[in-house]
This record gives sequence, structure tokens and C-alpha cells, in this order.
Amino acid sequence: MFSMNSFPRRVLLRTIALVVLLWQCCRLTDCQIRSALGHYQLVPASFGNSTAASEGVSDDFGSTVASAALLEEGKDGNYKSSAANDRPTDLGIQTVLEPKHGDDSPPLLCQKPLEDRYSHLRSFASKKPRFFFALDLYQAAGILPQLTASILETVKFLGPEYCYLSIVEGNSTDGTSDLLQALHADAKTLGLTYSLVRSDLDPKNESNDRIEVLAQLRNLALAPLLQDPSDFDSEETTIVFLNDISPCANDILELIHQRRVQGADMACPMDYSDDGLFYDIWIARSMTGDIFFNIPPSGLWKYAKNLLWDDPERKRRLEAHTPFQVFACWNGMAAIGAKAFTQKGIRFRRNREGECYMGEPTLLAKDFWKEGLGKILVVPSVWVAYSHRASVKVKLEKGHVEENLRDGGKEKGMQEMVEWDERPPSLIKCPMPSYSDPQWVPPYEGYVDIMILASERT
Ligand SMILES: *[C@@H]1O[C@H](CO)[C@@H](O)[C@H](O)[C@H]1NC(C)=O
Ligand SMILES: *[C@@H]1O[C@H](CO)[C@@H](O)[C@H](O)[C@H]1NC(C)=O
Ligand SMILES: *[C@@H]1O[C@H](CO)[C@@H](O)[C@H](O)[C@H]1NC(C)=O
Repeated sequence: MFSMNSFPRRVLLRTIALVVLLWQCCRLTDCQIRSALGHYQLVPASFGNSTAASEGVSDDFGSTVASAALLEEGKDGNYKSSAANDRPTDLGIQTVLEPKHGDDSPPLLCQKPLEDRYSHLRSFASKKPRFFFALDLYQAAGILPQLTASILETVKFLGPEYCYLSIVEGNSTDGTSDLLQALHADAKTLGLTYSLVRSDLDPKNESNDRIEVLAQLRNLALAPLLQDPSDFDSEETTIVFLNDISPCANDILELIHQRRVQGADMACPMDYSDDGLFYDIWIARSMTGDIFFNIPPSGLWKYAKNLLWDDPERKRRLEAHTPFQVFACWNGMAAIGAKAFTQKGIRFRRNREGECYMGEPTLLAKDFWKEGLGKILVVPSVWVAYSHRASVKVKLEKGHVEENLRDGGKEKGMQEMVEWDERPPSLIKCPMPSYSDPQWVPPYEGYVDIMILASERT
């Protein structure tokens, strides 16, 4: 996967999970249609007889992996799915459907966008597009239905004419690329501009540096914005970068909302591994400069549940689902002010000479701080995960965003607005050569001009 923070064991586990899931999916022939009040949910309609199937799409396992069908918006504003041959005439949003999962997890129920909270995201002075959804995907068929449905739900809410969807796909063999092709029809129906590019860049090719390739892929997903920035709202455009996660629309909207109301340069959720722990330790750094949990010299993750152990004030905010500042984050998704790219010329990159080896989102955060864009935020009312099973589990354990907003910090007398630190931590943990034997490096390590300034002072 292109996920920035994979470790071999996790990659292996996720691959096995995907294989099992696809195998289960491929055995399915039945169809189930369920609907729940106040939620939208996608289930297979005519599995094995889908648009994709009729176009002869097959995966590694010799059968179709998912089907496309139509969603119909009910009178109450909820969703119900309908079979592909039974097209509703009022609102025909064709989307990729969720294959039945090869596990006993309940369905992931997502609520419709919170109109009152997010309607301000539709009122801007400029009439140009201002929400740029960017994704790099590889072998993502298992989560694509939920991911694309939630993106389309978000786009519908924000106004398709104000949105742009850019996807870079890496020559997957599991049907991902066919599902993404099928999305052209949905985008057209909605009136959403959609760019799908296939890339040969392979982060697993050992002749190339992995972070370099990941950075190139991320920049490639931004290419339509970077090539023609004047086509977009120059002041307000938000890049919404999503990994291969399985979110709800309100998760995406809450990040965009928080970035706007807090005036943040970047906003991320919290993410959750299949083992039920905070996942993105490779990228995320708190304002103490450390990883979100303590990894002792033994390398054991025995403190993994004690998040932000060294920053009690922000730990309190995390537990109350109230946003807090960090040095760096990604955590599966990020809402980022496009001005950093279009006006300051920042790009995803690998480490420079003299700079500790880190993931491209941590380096992006360094470049943000260097440009005075250190308003980087984690929004802990939003928890996302990388599989259906883990997504269902994380919403049960950590709550849906709507529940967290209701039960959050306000009643604990905590104010939602963040008080920003203008200075980065004095040292940042760089897990090189390993998490058990890391280095602590200055936040501006590797910037030539800063080093010159420092040497002039002495
Ligand atoms: C499959 O599609 C064909 C033609 O589109 C249709 O006649 C048939 O009823 C479908 N079968 C199922 C099981 O949905
Ligand atoms: C995709 O991968 C296949 C083998 O897995 C290879 O033969 C083909 O050339 C690749 N195509 C692209 C466009 O990368
Ligand atoms: C790996 O990358 C090298 C250098 O970019 C390239 O020549 C080679 O064809 C790549 N290998 C594969 C299997 O794609």
C-alpha cells in the first residue's frame, strides 16, 4: 500500500486480511439491502452481475471484486441502495458498493452531513473551486466503496462545482483501477471534475528511495492544482488528502470545518491500527517533539495506550475530543491550506543531505513551520482506520464524530479554540536507526539558510 507508515508486519497482516476479504467477497452471490434512519450505508445490490462484471473486469482471484449500483436518496434524506437495473430517476448517483465483508463486523453506519455545523463551508466570496480531494491508491478495493461513497457524500454537501477529485492509482491488480474508472460516471452525474492518473512509480521498487517515490506520488496527486492554481480559489482552497481509509462524510467535513474555524494550516484526525492502537507513529509528533506514545529503549509498545503521556494539557484535550496543536501529523487524512503549495512553493519531498530520514508528511510539517505555518491541528473527535473491521471497531470504541461533538470538551469547561504556540518544539524525535534507538534533531535541521544564520550569530 502507499500508506506512508507501513511496517512490514502490518503490510503483511493487511495483505492477508485483504486476500481473505476478497476471497470471501468472491463467494458472494446474494444481495442485501438495509437502511437505517439517519444513516447512509452501502451494501451490495446485484453482486457478481455488476457494471464491472459486465465489462469483464476480474481480479487476481478470477472473479469480480465489487459491483456498482445506484444510491437513492430517501424522503428523510437517508440513503438506501437500489439494484443497478432499477435506476431511480430523481437522483441517480452511481457509486461503487461495499462488498460484503468476510468477517462478522456489523456495517459501518454513517450519518448524513451535519447541516447546521458545516453549512458555512458553502459560503465563500469566490465562485472558484476550493476543495481539492487528493488520493494515492494502490490495492485498495476493500475500502474503496466506503471511501468513495463518503467523498461523494461530502462533495454533494459542499457543492460539486466547488470540488475537484484527483486520484493517482499505482497499477493495482485487485480491481482498484477498474473501480476508480467506474467513478467517472458518478463524477459526471454529480458534476464533479475528476482526474484519474495511473502511475508506474512504485514505492516498493528497491532501486529507488521509498520516501522519494511517495513524495512524488503525493505531488502527482496535487498536479492539477499546482499546474493551474488560478483555476482555484486562491485564498480559501483546502487540499483534503486521504489515505486508504474507510471514513464517514462527517469525518472529512469536521476536518475541513476545524481547519477553517481555527485558522489552521493543517488538520488531521486520529488513526487506529487493526490491533486497536494509535497507528501513525512514523509521522505524528506532538508539541513535545515526541511520538504520541512512549517507546522505551526496549522497543516494546507497552505504553502504546498512554497517548500524549508527556503533555498533560493536550492529553486532556485529546481525551475530551477537543482539538490540539501538534508539530506534525497525518494520521490517515489531512485537510491542508493550499496556499502553502500554491503561494509558498512547498512540495512533498524526501530528506535533504544533513537531515534525518523521516516520512514526507513529517518533512512537510517541518517546511510548514519554517514558513511560519505551524498551526497544525489534530481533531480527536475524528478517528479513522484502514479496514472495514477496524473502522467499525474504532467508531464503537472512540465514537462517531457526532457523538464526540455532543459529549466533548464543552461540558468539561474546555474551550474548543486552540491557543497556538508560535515556536516549534526544540527537538524532534527521528526514529533512525530505529524506534528503540532514535535521534533527537532540531526542528530546522537541514535548512542551509538557517544554519548560516546560526553560524553568523556565533
Ligand atoms: C444481471 O443483469 C442482467 C442484464 O443486465 C439482468 O437481466 C439480470 O436480471 C441480472 N441478474 C441479477 C441476478 O441481478
Ligand atoms: C502493470 O503491472 C503489470 C504486471 O503486474 C505490468 O505488466 C504492466 O506493464 C504494468 N503497467 C503499468 C502501466 O504500470
Ligand atoms: C525500478 O526502478 C528502476 C529505476 O527507476 C527501473 O529502472 C526499474 O525498471 C524498476 N523496476 C520495476 C520492477 O519496476
